[in-house]
Parts: sequence; structure tokens; C-alpha cells
Amino acid sequence: MPSETIAVASDHAGYELKEVLKRELTVMGYEVLDLGADGAESVDYPDFGRAAAKAVASGRSSRGIVVCGTGIGISIAANRHPGIRAALCHDVETARLGREHNDANLLALGGRTTDPETAKACLRTFLETPYEGGRHDPRVAKLA
Ligand code: RB5
Repeated sequence: MPSETIAVASDHAGYELKEVLKRELTVMGYEVLDLGADGAESVDYPDFGRAAAKAVASGRSSRGIVVCGTGIGISIAANRHPGIRAALCHDVETARLGREHNDANLLALGGRTTDPETAKACLRTFLETPYEGGRHDPRVAKLA
């Protein structure tokens, strides 16, 4: 069982999928750091993208999951934070490549664009796929 803390954050449009993914993380044995939102009341996705980015960049959590309606806004917000590599994924293939090639430390998903089963498959792939290193090292370094 992994003993790792995963930060999760969403806006109102990502709230339901965030709750689904929290349950999945708990089943998988991860500790969950829930940074909100806490319901369907309208909020601003940059606040939650930033919160997840700060949690990961500070080491409070090792990796994170962010969800908004499309995953676009919250991933843009998170990627403005130094040290964050948020990958907006739509399927297992993009989740795998985000880890293997980009060493992504945040998975971004769209609550209105990705169904829960696909999202859970992305989550598992994101958490279980190692970074490949090698030829990707200088490219990932340039992101910083
Ligand atoms: C909220 O309506 C929506 O704009 C937001 O969740 C997100 O999709 C933005 O990128």
C-alpha cells in the first residue's frame, strides 16, 4: 500500500469528480489532502489550482489532482507556479505520457468532459507510471 499524500482540488464544476477521485484514492491506500471546493457553489478555479500547486511545490503532498469543468483553467493556474508540471489528460494514454515524458506532478481533469470511469483510469495510470528520465531530463529541466 502506498503511504503518500495526494492533494486534490477543484472548482464547483469539478467538485463531483473530485469526490469520486477522493474515494478512489482512499481505496488505493493514499492519504488525501482535500483543498476544496466543498460543494457546488460557484467559485474561481485559479484559487484552487494555486492551492494544489502550493501543496505540491512545498512538499506538503507529493503529487496532486486538480479538476474544473474542462481541466483547462485549473491546469493553467497550477502551471504558473514554479516547480509545477500539470498535465491535462483525457485518457490513459495522455496520463501515461504525462508521467513518462513530462514527469507531471499534477493531473488535471475535466469534470464536464471526462466520465468518472475514464477519470479513475487516468488517476491510476498517473499514480502508477514512473518518469522515464534519460532524453526527457534536459527537456523537463528547461521547463524550470
Ligand atoms: C466554470 O464554469 C468553468 O469555466 C471552469 O470550471 C473551467 O472549465 C475553466 O477552465
